Amino acid sequence: MTRERKGKEWTGDVPILWEDEDYTPLLWSTLFPHSRPIEIDWGCGKGRFLMAHAAAHPDRDFLGVDLQLRRLGKLNQRARDRGLTNIRLVCADIQKTVEKLVPDSAVDTCYAFFPDPWPKRKHHPRRLVNAAFMDAIHRILKPGGHLHLATDHTDYFAAMQKVATPDLRFEPSPPFLPTLEERTDFEIIFADQSLSAHRLSLRKK
Ligand SMILES: C[S@@+](CC[C@H](N)C(=O)[O-])C[C@H]1O[C@@H](n2cnc3c(N)ncnc32)[C@H](O)[C@@H]1O
Repeated sequence: MTRERKGKEWTGDVPILWEDEDYTPLLWSTLFPHSRPIEIDWGCGKGRFLMAHAAAHPDRDFLGVDLQLRRLGKLNQRARDRGLTNIRLVCADIQKTVEKLVPDSAVDTCYAFFPDPWPKRKHHPRRLVNAAFMDAIHRILKPGGHLHLATDHTDYFAAMQKVATPDLRFEPSPPFLPTLEERTDFEIIFADQSLSAHRLSLRKK
């Protein structure tokens, strides 16, 4: 699957999603032809968590979404080198991906680990976890599906709790505790600075 557009390339390995197109359901069924549980890592970065978790769960399919194509290209190569066939990657904005790619009730588990905190008040609207994100996650999760969040940023964590905890469409769930291999790059960076992660997990009713 290769095509040229606006000078950029779409490859079957790491498709770039263009904002003005609707990809559901064709690309989704191309990415996930098996009827296996699907998990999404939103803002997967260099993919340390994604690779370790996918390796530990070969019976599940994984999607990593990030804006940084270079990182995704390297991650894709590392996944191939390790023989991991259950990882798919797309290069796209998270909100657009939810909106344009993911069908209703299609996903078992979503992860958003250490999303950009946007600490300045005027930038708070750029934060990933907000009411619109919770609506989107509710739409794409299967009943009983999970959302796992983690951040080092105390103020952002309070904002996450404020939007997520009173949402009656979800119930609290035990926090997701990564194994040593599953710790993300940002978790390791913050741990090295003696900063611990705040974790919040929810289950769709
Ligand atoms: C702080 S890093 C965390 C990466 C990884 N989850 C970790 O814990 O190491 C945030 C990641 O989200 C990606 N990102 C930020 N905003 C995004 C957006 N709107 N759509 C897709 N990816 C985004 C960035 O490119 C970056 O890789």
